[in-house]
Amino acid sequence: MDLGGGLSLANPVIAASGTFGYGLEYAGVADPAALGAVVVKGLSLHPAAGHPAPRMVETPAGMLNAIGLQNIGVERFVAEKLPWLRERGVTVVVNCWGTTVEEYGEVVAALDGASGIAAVEVNISSPNKREWGRIIATDAKRTAEVVAAARGSTRRPLWVKLSPNVTDIVEFARIAEAEGADAVCVANTYVGMAVDLRTRRPVLSNGSGGLSGPAIKPLTLRAVHQVVRGCRLPVIGVGGITSGEDALEYLLVGARAVQVGTAHLYDPSAGLKILSQIKKFLEREAIDRLTQFIGTLEG
Ligand SMILES: Cc1cc2nc3c(=O)[nH]c(=O)nc-3n(C[C@H](O)[C@H](O)[C@H](O)COP(=O)(O)O)c2cc1C
Repeated sequence: MDLGGGLSLANPVIAASGTFGYGLEYAGVADPAALGAVVVKGLSLHPAAGHPAPRMVETPAGMLNAIGLQNIGVERFVAEKLPWLRERGVTVVVNCWGTTVEEYGEVVAALDGASGIAAVEVNISSPNKREWGRIIATDAKRTAEVVAAARGSTRRPLWVKLSPNVTDIVEFARIAEAEGADAVCVANTYVGMAVDLRTRRPVLSNGSGGLSGPAIKPLTLRAVHQVVRGCRLPVIGVGGITSGEDALEYLLVGARAVQVGTAHLYDPSAGLKILSQIKKFLEREAIDRLTQFIGTLEG
């Protein structure tokens, strides 16, 4: 599966950042090397504690999270996690973030010496980083600056993870394209909140969080459709995928690959099951190659 920047994945199903740990936690039940790729938890230059609990809450057909990008930092990831992933033959995509434009460049640069990283995905779209002032991917100027800083810091394939919390996501995909990204990931979570009637307080310590899971699939499917039509970059679809059919819908509208997030939290083998359902569909429909199916939506 050609995803631009010289990167081709063995199959189109990828584990989404923040829902598959550092790629090794589920290895006893689901072989991470059998997925097209694993996007690891978003890394920063220094370890980050994230927000205090409660930071997850279940909603009808989904969940809200405000983890706050907790992670062990790029240095420990490279020293402690990456060697295992390399040994196991996992296709690793590193998701990363910074608190300033410069820090985005630095964290991407810090990964550059390490081998065994197939691509870098910059997260500019978390709804849970108050330090950003507002979601970076809702600000055209800062989006351009961050993508340019990341591009200037690596020759690796560069994916930009966009926010659906905008009026016109195509505008932001085009900015990523203009600043040298190789692919866009559509999309992160939708800002939402839950309140407790008894305490009369927000449920999440952060006040609000990001909505993910089946509830968002129709919204993100449309966003992917728009970006595929409005931007030349390969699009990776992510939002509410829990079955082979969901994934195939994204591929039909033109996504070159998909990421599975929340579904992995209740079934670590969800991605592998989805992959096998895609294969069965192609067999049943007598489609030799997935590329013959991608983007064939009519009307
Ligand atoms: C618990 C949790 C943690 C997440 N952490 C990250 C992260 O660190 N970086 C990132 O770019 N996206 C993160 N995401 C967003 C997911 O990667 C994905 O874009 C989103 O959940 C939509 O896909 P889904 O509906 O399949 O979960 C997180 C999502 C969840 C539920």
